[in-house]
Amino acid sequence: MAIEQTLSIIKPNAVAKNAIGAILSRFEAAGLQIVAARMLHMSKEQASAFYGIHQGKPFFDELVAFMTSGPVMVQVLEGEDAVAKNRDIMGATNPANAAPGTIRADFADSFTENAAHGSDAADTAAVEIAFFFPEGVCPRTR
Ligand code: PPS
Repeated sequence: MAIEQTLSIIKPNAVAKNAIGAILSRFEAAGLQIVAARMLHMSKEQASAFYGIHQGKPFFDELVAFMTSGPVMVQVLEGEDAVAKNRDIMGATNPANAAPGTIRADFADSFTENAAHGSDAADTAAVEIAFFFPEGVCPRTR
């Protein structure tokens, strides 16, 4: 298994629920290390650029409006198979299909307000990590 990094976002609805610690602890309990983290309130320009691949889709405007509605917590997770592991911990994108015990099953409010984002592949992760952490991230500590 490969050591990977992946980008994770705790979305505005989960931040508003005071669930940052509960969500981060799930990553750590699964063996993922947090090697970078920052809290920010995205501008419309930032959110539109981050989700640029979805521009023109019917949900795009709602997604950007939601992601700019409050602060988000953005972190880089590192560990064995981090991309897939993070997506397993998050659960399905549509919370109606998210398995019990996943982040989205426990903290999502709707398809749009689905509590968390995770990169979908290692190459996407590299682009997304550079988007939020252009200065780079800390090296592994163990
Ligand atoms: S798609 O349909 O294949 O482009 O969708 P996907 O790549 O899985 O993720 C799309 C992101 O947009 C968010 N979002 C929605 N997707 C589909 N339908 C609706 N109605 C919708 N509303 C919001 C979805 O949560 C994905 O966000 P991220 O942050 O990437 O998980």
